Amino acid sequence: MKYLLGFDIGSSSIKVALLSAETGTCLASVTSPKKEMEITVEAADWAEQRPERWWQEAINATQELRHNYGFDTSLVAGIGITYQMHGLVLLNEQGKVLRPAIIWCDSRAVDLGNQAFAELGEEHCLSNYLNSPGNFTASKLKWVKENEPAIYAQIHKIQLPGDYIAYQMTGQMQTTVSGLSEGVFWNFREQAIAQDLLDYYGISRDLLPEVVATFSEQGRLTAEAAQELGLHAGTPISYRAGDQPNNAFSLNVLHAGEIAATAGTSGVVYGISETPTADPRSRVNAFVHVNSTQEQPKNGVLMCMNGTGILNSWLRKVVGEIPYDEMNQLAAQAPVGAEGLVFLPFGNGAERILENRPTNAELRGLNFNVHSRSHVLRAAQEGIVFALNYGIDIMRQSGVQVRKVRAGNANMFLSPVFREAFVNCAGVELELYNTDAAQGAARGAGVGAGVYASTDDAFIGLERILTLAPQPELQEQYQVAYARWQENLNSILPQQTTPQHVHQHAF
Ligand code: XUL
Repeated sequence: MKYLLGFDIGSSSIKVALLSAETGTCLASVTSPKKEMEITVEAADWAEQRPERWWQEAINATQELRHNYGFDTSLVAGIGITYQMHGLVLLNEQGKVLRPAIIWCDSRAVDLGNQAFAELGEEHCLSNYLNSPGNFTASKLKWVKENEPAIYAQIHKIQLPGDYIAYQMTGQMQTTVSGLSEGVFWNFREQAIAQDLLDYYGISRDLLPEVVATFSEQGRLTAEAAQELGLHAGTPISYRAGDQPNNAFSLNVLHAGEIAATAGTSGVVYGISETPTADPRSRVNAFVHVNSTQEQPKNGVLMCMNGTGILNSWLRKVVGEIPYDEMNQLAAQAPVGAEGLVFLPFGNGAERILENRPTNAELRGLNFNVHSRSHVLRAAQEGIVFALNYGIDIMRQSGVQVRKVRAGNANMFLSPVFREAFVNCAGVELELYNTDAAQGAARGAGVGAGVYASTDDAFIGLERILTLAPQPELQEQYQVAYARWQENLNSILPQQTTPQHVHQHAF
């Protein structure tokens, strides 16, 4: 008997899952804290969390898992970590956290990223980094350099959120190539660190940690970490990946043409591409996928919508903490299109699909004599789907075929209204699987520790539990509602944007 453990370091909670390596079955999982974690907002459109809190919740979740499900910890063959992407954690030489993490949905670096895009040259950025430096980790680090020089001077290494958790476990400050790409520290053309971007920002390369392979023994659990977690000292940490590449991996989305989606705090549609493509306005982004190699590069082309499950969880607080299931049932009581009620779900920082505009959420067309709580809940779920579909349209313009989408049976995909709207609005087939991010990370750990001979073997026990196809009559109704939603969106954007076509970069 061998076990695998997966940790999902999310923005709303930390989840740990225990898998049987032989059957791929999830034996137990725990989420901590039970209520969504706070995101601290010191100034408009900033978003910070304390890395120490993530670690504490990882400890709490693991201790609870052990309490609920007794297992021989010496039989854990590997630990995998997946994490909220693009965040910035700063460590000094002693490994002390120098300031709260600036997380993915923090928009403070948008202007610096835009300036870099213009000054380095858009064509240069797109052909080398496949992205604008945008609001990603490198730009966030530049913000610290400009605005907090005393802190900047103390930085020994920077870490992504998952790198920090791995550091707590192993005592080693490391990252991956995929991780460097999510920070826009990676030059795809040269397959090397983006030295010219570092030079432009005036950032020393020494601040970047050592690079390890995504699937590999990256370190072992120290005695101290083992004691805190209640695990076995020496257990290998054998996989780490950002939550979106990991979601794709967890669904066996590893080859060109395959598509994965998530709808957690943020919503993402993620396709695999073997040719380097970039959106000229950087509304969709390309990062190095988990199974990419120098010989066979594979990128994840990703559209991210910040305002996804976070809108639903905000509404839950506002409508009185009723269970999500009940919210879904209420949403289903209103008709398609919510009788003209429109929700623009952009209330969680700059949205990349809107060219990094920090657009707030809006509820439009509200009539007190027509609309009830059900309409508001439905309009929110539809609004999220419409925004995702707006992003899918951009992906399609980028040459990514989006026909069949795989997702874990989790978060917003648990809602029948959400699923129906997604399938019919985007005109895609949806397959839901019995998995989640933490389980995916556990499977990844199995590959990295050599328990599974290849990624193919890692999907034992992965089962499709639902397939949904679009229905023509519903598609028509959703098209009408989507058109209304788009009109509302266009009316708040500075000018109606016309799609531009993709750059294909032959290296
Ligand atoms: C992906 C992205 C978000 C975060 C959320 O590019 O920014 O999905 O990873 O955790």
